[in-house]
Amino acid sequence: MNTIDTQVAIIGAGPSGLLLGQLLDKQGISNVILERVTGDYVLGRIRAGILEQGFADLVREAGVAERMDTEGEIHEGVEIAADGERFHIDLKGLTDGDVVICYGQTEITRDLMDARAEAGLKTYYEATDVELHNVTEENPSVTFGYQGEQYTLNCDYIAGCDGFYGPSRQTIPADKRTEHERVYPFGWLGLLSDTPPVSEELIYCKSESGFALASRRSATRSRYYLQVPLTVTVDDWSDDDFWEELKRRLPADAAASLVTGPSIEKSIAPLRSFVCEPMQYGKLFLVGDAAHIVPPTGAKGLNLAASDVAALYQIMTRIYQENDTDCISRYSEVALRRVWHGERFSWWMSNMLHNFGDEVATGMQSETFARFMDSERDYYLRSEEGRKVIARQYVGLPYEEV
Ligand code: APR
Ligand code: PHB
Repeated sequence: MNTIDTQVAIIGAGPSGLLLGQLLDKQGISNVILERVTGDYVLGRIRAGILEQGFADLVREAGVAERMDTEGEIHEGVEIAADGERFHIDLKGLTDGDVVICYGQTEITRDLMDARAEAGLKTYYEATDVELHNVTEENPSVTFGYQGEQYTLNCDYIAGCDGFYGPSRQTIPADKRTEHERVYPFGWLGLLSDTPPVSEELIYCKSESGFALASRRSATRSRYYLQVPLTVTVDDWSDDDFWEELKRRLPADAAASLVTGPSIEKSIAPLRSFVCEPMQYGKLFLVGDAAHIVPPTGAKGLNLAASDVAALYQIMTRIYQENDTDCISRYSEVALRRVWHGERFSWWMSNMLHNFGDEVATGMQSETFARFMDSERDYYLRSEEGRKVIARQYVGLPYEEV
């Protein structure tokens, strides 16, 4: 059995694990990442790329922001099209200057991977049989297989950055954790194409035939989504079918200027709201998708992972730089406060902008629920105070000091 020592063991080389590892290294805190798949596989995941101010500032603090700041697009506003009208949400004007950066998750992950390699920090890709041990003891460890050998990683703390399906959350005994979940009765069919985006800003569309989102990766690469029933598969949708339905759901003037082309990626993602409480157990800290999932309607998935990282980074820095361990017990409380704000906003936006069929978890007729949501949109989109609420949540609430 090979033995390795580090201060913080990080499970998962997605955005959470990579960003945390880079920040800890900046403070001289040693860390090792264990990742189940290859780096190329991680980079192959197509995910949202709307970065809140707080996320961007963390990436800058990690010293990995050069490409984000040169290639990322600053977005000062976002559009919501509903009930035959287009409503501009002036993010910058309604939040006294806050904006978001449009920069694909793949790119931020690539930048973090490159920075980690350049710093000579160890990531064990294709690690197998990762198991957490003694997480409530003084000497936690993680065992894993790598290139046919068995390893024990001794550490002071474990950051479970291993996503929704990783082992970290399951390490918390079932009777010690509470899981909150709302599964939505539809999914998002996403399409990536090397075509110029239909709009400078994102357009979230509520239409008679369902939700659509027009997003972008660059001036020459577009990302579009359609609400679809859970019963369909990607094979049910040709590119032509996708473009025709998107035109039906976009505002007419946008549909008229839509540039179509072959898809370079097409996939269906289910929508779920999920939170595990607490987000820590002994010396194990859950970060990002390991602890929570949001429907993509509020572009919060990556940003909530970042605010978890910010809280844990503060705590680890206090422990190792100031020998202050009192703050350890505050992680879950601080992280969950912001997580629930993000969950509520994403749930609220999903309710307002999607068509709900017969299934309405609120225990009322779908037509009645639709009337409530018509009124919700009417108030929040047609009043400046309503648009301000949306803008503040979309750019992201400030991070809390631990
Ligand atoms: N051992 C090692 N690594 C694992 C294991 C395991 N047993 N199980 C999962 N992993 C890895 C996955 O392969 C993945 O690379 O953990 C990583 C988790 O990364 P993400 O799922 O991307 O989660 P996170 O880093 O928190 O990023 C959240 O990703 O899913 C999106 O919308 C979400 O944008 C948000 C972001
Ligand atoms: C995306 O560009 O993939 C994207 C943008 C905003 C969202 C969801 C996805 O709310």
